[in-house]
Amino acid sequence: MPASPEITEAAVESAVDAALTALAAASDTAALKAAKSAHAGEASPLAALNALLRDVPADQKAALGKLVGQARARVGQAVAAREAELVAAEEAQALAAEAIDVTAIAPLRLAGARHPLTTLMEQMSDIFIAMGWEVAEGPELENEWFNFDALNMDADHPARGTQDTFFVEPEDRHLLLRTQTSPVQVRSLLDRGVPLYVVSPGRVFRKDELDATHTPVFHQLEGIAIDKGLTMAHLRGTLEHLARAVIGEGARIRLRPNYFPFTEPSAELDVWHPTFKDGPRWIEWGGCGMVNPNVLRAAGIDPEVYQGFAFGMGIERTLMFRNGVSDMRDMVEGDVRFSQQFGMVV
Ligand code: PHE
Repeated sequence: MPASPEITEAAVESAVDAALTALAAASDTAALKAAKSAHAGEASPLAALNALLRDVPADQKAALGKLVGQARARVGQAVAAREAELVAAEEAQALAAEAIDVTAIAPLRLAGARHPLTTLMEQMSDIFIAMGWEVAEGPELENEWFNFDALNMDADHPARGTQDTFFVEPEDRHLLLRTQTSPVQVRSLLDRGVPLYVVSPGRVFRKDELDATHTPVFHQLEGIAIDKGLTMAHLRGTLEHLARAVIGEGARIRLRPNYFPFTEPSAELDVWHPTFKDGPRWIEWGGCGMVNPNVLRAAGIDPEVYQGFAFGMGIERTLMFRNGVSDMRDMVEGDVRFSQQFGMVV
């Protein structure tokens, strides 16, 4: 008959030792829960020893009860202490894992930037807004009449053939991609009447191959001023102001006789600046002149009462000589590094 288990100091001590070892070995709260149930739960050796108290002789009950009770209390305290330790460690670990370094440099996100051509067009328009002019926009898909006829270029006018025009089918609708912003002169005269002070920036189209100095889609800024008593001197003064504001204080302009069907007299506009990339020199900038009486008549305005001037220049050209861009293709390819050179934040 096997010896029935007895409550001895050695048995209690070994149950406590086993419990303390297991608790110390528990490396997280889940392991601790298992160790707690094995060494302090109902099926634990200490619980079994406690159960034996029922059968011990009355004179030993107090001493053995104290022995077992103190052992259970020690194990209970050890469980609580280890639990506090592990919970604190796990909390610290979670905090470290979730920590956000507010001083860290945020990853670079490319948000895009406005194109230098756009900002230049706006800058040029703003110069006129500051002088009380208005900004008008016209359609890129234009009527042949506005692009040519109303600008004093009849169907058989030789100048009509010199602009390499994209006509839009069917031909009998007489639609084209505007070859210049000058049709906005006539649209503005018809829409707004006189006196008129309007600039019109926008896209124009010509059948050109893309190369270092040509692009089939480019931008112009048109200007038209019609009032009583406007002269070539007003045109000159306006263009001089524009040149200084866009290019720099040292800018000078020069007008050379030229021909445009919609202005008379007409001039080629040249600009000069000491900081041009290839040295101070005259650069062709655009066309201008006094608005041809036939254009005013086409818009129902009496040229005996109202006169004025008009001008137009390429935006790409302006950016090229102002900023020393030597290849026009850089402007149209959409490579963000091009915009970045102009200080755009992308
Ligand atoms: N439209 C002309 C061009 O594209 C420029 C111009 C505008 C000339 C206004 C005179 C007056 O070449």
